[in-house]
Formats: sequence, C-alpha cells, structure tokens
Amino acid sequence: MRKQWVLGNWKMNGSRESNSHLISGLLAGLNAESSSGIGVCVPSVYLIEVGDKLAGSTVALGAQTISEHDEGAYTGEISAKMAVDCGCSLVLVGHSERRSLYGETSEIVAKKFKQALSNELTPVLCVGETLEQRESGITNEVIGEQLDAVIECCNSDELGRSIIAYEPVWAIGTGKTASAEQAQEVHAFIRNKLAQKSNALAEKISILYGGSVKADNAKEIFSMSDIDGGLVGGASLGAESFLAIYNSTDVIG
Ligand code: 13P
Repeated sequence: MRKQWVLGNWKMNGSRESNSHLISGLLAGLNAESSSGIGVCVPSVYLIEVGDKLAGSTVALGAQTISEHDEGAYTGEISAKMAVDCGCSLVLVGHSERRSLYGETSEIVAKKFKQALSNELTPVLCVGETLEQRESGITNEVIGEQLDAVIECCNSDELGRSIIAYEPVWAIGTGKTASAEQAQEVHAFIRNKLAQKSNALAEKISILYGGSVKADNAKEIFSMSDIDGGLVGGASLGAESFLAIYNSTDVIG
C-alpha cells in the first residue's frame, strides 16, 4: 500500500508566537497511531525553532524551497544542505507560486529536485495548470511537461524517493476545489505517465492533491483511488483544521 501524507504549507505566514501555539495544538491532538505521514513546510527563518518543538514527534519538518546550487554567492537563498542541517526531511519544489512569482522554470525545478535527492531530502514536486490552460484543454500537456523535466534527469529509484503534489493553480487559495473526479483524472494521468518509466515506481509513489483542501472536503478527495493525501495551505494554519484533514486519511485505501 502506498504511503499517505498530509503536508502543511505555511507559505509566508506565522510568527514565533503563533507557530508555538500551532505546534502545541498539533502535538496535543495528533493521533500518533496513524500510519499516514504528516509534515509542515515552514518559512526558513523558523525551521530550527519549529524543528526543536517537533523533536521526538512524528511530524516531519519541511522547507518551502531550496536553491538549485550547492553553495556560494547566492544572496538570500538556502541550500539543500542547510535545510538538512536545520532538521528538514522534506522540501517543496516547483510550487506554483515559485514558478509564477519567482520565474522558476521546469529546468530550474528539476535542478532543485536533484539537489534535494543528493542531500537525502524528500522533494515534493508540485505540478498544476492555470485556469486558462485548463479551459484551453491543455492540462495534460502542461503537467506532462512539468513532470518530464524531472523524469528525464532521474532514474526510477531516485523518482521513487519523491512525492508528487497536483495543485491546480486555479484552486489554490481561491476556495474553489477541483471536484474529486477532476482531481482523480489528473492523478491517474500522472501515475500513468510514471508507469511509462516503471510500473513499480507508479505503484509506489504518493501523489497528493492540493488546492483549497479543507476539513469538510478532504474525505471525499482522499477517497479517490490515485489520491494519496493532501498538500494544504490555508487550512494548515490552524491545528484543529489541519488535524481534521490529517484524520481524513483513514478513508484512503
Ligand atoms: P490552499 O490550501 O490555501 O488553497 O493552498 C494550497 C497550496 O498551495 C499548498 O501548497
């Protein structure tokens, strides 16, 4: 059975005080018996402090992006090694906000993906189409191109150490969720594409859905056969809503 995950992406939100409150709430309410993975991807300045609070728990720590370079004169960036040094086991790569607001091309995203793998970080590769692309009927082409960039530079073993997140851009932070069927259709496309590389890889890899996942729609979305959990933005900022989503993974499989 594939591993199920619920990951929070805090984006540029939080403060030392609110983080402390959120993590206490998460740890107090967490079902430690669940076989699903849980993690939070936090702003880099808070990684160490949040990591300290999570020590000894089952909650994984993730960064929201890393540099495509090893080290050196890249002002403002953090390297994969630094993320590991701060306690991360996960990193988001190619989030649509990074692609659209910071000019990350699929080629750059693939380099970041490789950086993560070579430093024993699990990359969470985010892919997704805009509304315009969906309405022009090119969703599969767009996602295919985003996937190809990493498929072409990694072998099956490497790809098998990653997680994929399908996040339709039009559903991010808009309150508009893809229907469970719309999401399932794209997840199946992603899995079939990976099967062209290796059937074993396609069977094993976790593909998460992201885009306005909330406590009241998570169960339905997670019940689809190719959806292995969620990548959650807004609803990950409250312990209660995030835990309710995490507890919805029990419908999977
Ligand atoms: P929302 O859950 O706020 O729509 O954000 C989704 C997302 O971008 C997670 O990475």
